[in-house]
Amino acid sequence: MPVLPRLGAMLALALAAPVLAQTPAPAPVTASSPDGTIQVSLSIDGDGRAAYAVSRRGQPVITPSRLGFLFTDAAKIDRRLTVTGQEVRDFDETWSQPWGEWATIRNRYRELKVHLKETTALARVFTVTFRIYDDGLGFRYEFPQQPNMATTNIAEELTEFAFVSDGTAWWKPAFLWNREEYLYNKTPLSAVATADTPVTVRLADGTHVALHEAALVDYSGMAVARSEGTTLRAALTPGAGEAKVRKTGAWSTPWRTLIIANDAAGLYHSHLMLNLNEPNRLGDVSWFKPGKFAGVWWNMIKGEWTWARGPKHGATNANVKRYIDFAAANGIPQVLVEGWNVGWDGDWFGNGWDMDFARPTEDFDVKMLAAYARRKGVRLVGHHETGGAASHYENQFDKAFKFAADHGMMVVKTGYVTDAGQIERVDPDGKRYREWHQGQWMSNHFVRVALAANRYKIAFDSHEPIKGTGLQRTYPNWVAREGMRGMEYNAWAGKNPPEHEANLVFTRMLEGPMDFTPGIVSLEGERGSPILSTLAKQLALYVVIYSPVQMVADTPENYARFPGPLKFIRDVPTDWQESRVLNGEIGDYATIARKERGGEGWYVGAVGDEQERKVDFALDFLSPGKRYVAEIYRDGDQADYRTAERHQIVIERRTVTSADRMALRIAPGGGFAISLKPGK
Ligand code: NOJ
Ligand code: CA
Repeated sequence: MPVLPRLGAMLALALAAPVLAQTPAPAPVTASSPDGTIQVSLSIDGDGRAAYAVSRRGQPVITPSRLGFLFTDAAKIDRRLTVTGQEVRDFDETWSQPWGEWATIRNRYRELKVHLKETTALARVFTVTFRIYDDGLGFRYEFPQQPNMATTNIAEELTEFAFVSDGTAWWKPAFLWNREEYLYNKTPLSAVATADTPVTVRLADGTHVALHEAALVDYSGMAVARSEGTTLRAALTPGAGEAKVRKTGAWSTPWRTLIIANDAAGLYHSHLMLNLNEPNRLGDVSWFKPGKFAGVWWNMIKGEWTWARGPKHGATNANVKRYIDFAAANGIPQVLVEGWNVGWDGDWFGNGWDMDFARPTEDFDVKMLAAYARRKGVRLVGHHETGGAASHYENQFDKAFKFAADHGMMVVKTGYVTDAGQIERVDPDGKRYREWHQGQWMSNHFVRVALAANRYKIAFDSHEPIKGTGLQRTYPNWVAREGMRGMEYNAWAGKNPPEHEANLVFTRMLEGPMDFTPGIVSLEGERGSPILSTLAKQLALYVVIYSPVQMVADTPENYARFPGPLKFIRDVPTDWQESRVLNGEIGDYATIARKERGGEGWYVGAVGDEQERKVDFALDFLSPGKRYVAEIYRDGDQADYRTAERHQIVIERRTVTSADRMALRIAPGGGFAISLKPGK
C-alpha cells in the first residue's frame, strides 16, 4: 500500500487532514462467525491507522475503532501500518468443567489473524487475532520477539470501542479507593466516565453488549474511559513503575471481549470468556468438592465480635464448636473461621505484616477443632487475610497451605483489604513498591497463589481480588471471588439497594463465580438495622448468584428462628449440570433455573428490585412426561422490604410437569426460590 512521506503527512495534518483520507486504502480484511451472525473487519486508513469494526446480522455494533499502544520509552504504534497477511481457521470442540454452571461447554469459533507491520524504519510487527463466536468475539494483540522490541514498556493501550449508537450503560467507576466495590451506575452510554469492566450496554435498537476481557495474566486490568460520544477507550491499571505493563520478548494482551445478544439473558448464556482461556493446567482437581459453608463471620461483620483477640474474640473454641454442630446438623460440609490466627490485633486494614497463617491464637485449638469437625463430617475453611501485604503472603505460601491441608481444609478464603494502589510488594532485594489490585503484578500473584495452593490440594476464594476473566478454566482451584459489593454491605450504613442483585446477574456475574455470602435470614445488619430484602429473596440468592462455595452466612441462632426457610438452604446444591436465565432485565429482575449435577432436580431463583411484579415462566426445562414436586418459597402477600413484613414468606408444594407454567409475585425487594424434584 502507498506510504506517505513523513513531511507530506505533517503538512497534510497541518493544512487539512481530510485530504489525507483520499489516499487509497486497501480493502478491509473480514471474517464472520461460524453461523454468520457476527462479522468482523479490520481496515487501514490513508494514514496507515488500523481499525476494527463489528456488526451483527449486517447491522453495525462497533464502528471502526482504533488499535495501538503508547510506550514509555519508544515511539507509539498506531499509524503507518500495513497488512502483510491474514489467516483464517475454524475451531469446534466440547470440553467439560470439573465444576460450574454448565457441565459441558462448546467452543466453536472462527479465528482471523491479521498480520500487521509498520512501514517506518522501526518496522515493528504484530498480529491482531480475532476469535469470532456467534454471540460475540474476543481479540488480542500478539507481538513476536523482534529486534526493535526486546523489552516493551506500555504507557497505555489505545484500543477503542466505538459503539454505533447511544444506549443505556451499567457501569461502576474505576481506579477509586474502594477498588471494585461500588454500585453500578445506570446512565446513557454517552455519559460513562472511567469504568471498570464488565460494562454492560443496551443500545438504542435493543441489542445488548457486554464489554470485558478474558485471560488476564501478566498484564494489567483494562478499565475503559469514554473519549467522546459513544466511544470508550482502554485505560490500563497502573503499576508501581512508570509503565503500566512491562514485557520482555514475545508478548500478547488478554482477550478484549464483546458479548453481543438480543437480550439480557443472552449475555449470561455466553461461554466465550471461559472459552478464551487456556484449558486446565492443574490436572485432576476432583479433590475439590463444591459445597456450602457456615462461618464465624457475620457477628464480626456486624461488629459484635472481633477478629482480634480480646473479650469479644469470635474464633474461640466454644464458638467454633457451636458452628460445627450447626453445620453437622444441617448437612453443611464446611465452617469458615476468621480471626483464628495471629496478626489481627491492632490496625490490620492495609497492614498485614503480622499475619501468620500457621499460628493460631491461644483460644483457637486447631488440632482439637479439626478433629471435632472431622468426627462430625465437617471441614474447616481457612482464612488468609493479607491486609494487602501480598509479598508477605507469598513468603509464607508453603507453610500456610501445608497448615491448612494438615488440618483437613480444602478451601481457603483469602483477602486483600487495603485501598486501591496500596498492595505491598517487596522484591527479593528488599525494595518496597505499591501495586494495584488489578495491576500486572497482582495478575501474576494470583497465578502464584493458584499453583502454590494446588500443591497442597487447596482451593481458594479471593476477596478484594483482581477481576474475574475466566481463569477458573485454567486454574480450577480458584473457585470463587468477591470483587463487588457483597452481603457484608448490608451489615453497615449504605446498604445494597433492592436492585443490586438484578444488576449483578448481567454485570459482575459475567466475570464468573461470586462469593456473595447469601442467606441472612434475620434480615438485620449492625444494631438491628433492616436489610433491604425479603426473606424469600435471601433464599433465591443461592440459585441466582452462582458460586461453587456458597456461604450459609447468618448465625446458627438466627437460622434456628427460621427452620422452614433453612430447609431450602440445606437442599440447594452448589454445582450444576446446566443453567438457564428464564427471563430478566438488567437492574429490574432475573429468574434463573439450574439443574443439579448428578441428579434430576431443578432449582429456580428469582430476584426483583424495589418494584412489585409478577413473573410468569414455563417449566419446559423439566423432562417431559415426568412429575415433579415443586417446593415454592415465595413472598407473602404483604411481604415488602420497607416494612416489618419483610419476613413474610409462603412455603407451599405443588405437583407439576414440563407442560405447566408458574406465575409468582415478587414483592418490593423480594424474590422466590423453588426446588423441583421428581416425585408425586
Ligand atoms: C473483607 C471480606 O469481604 C470479608 O468477608 C472479610 O470478613 C473481611 N474482609 C476480613 O478479612
Ligand atoms: Ca470485601
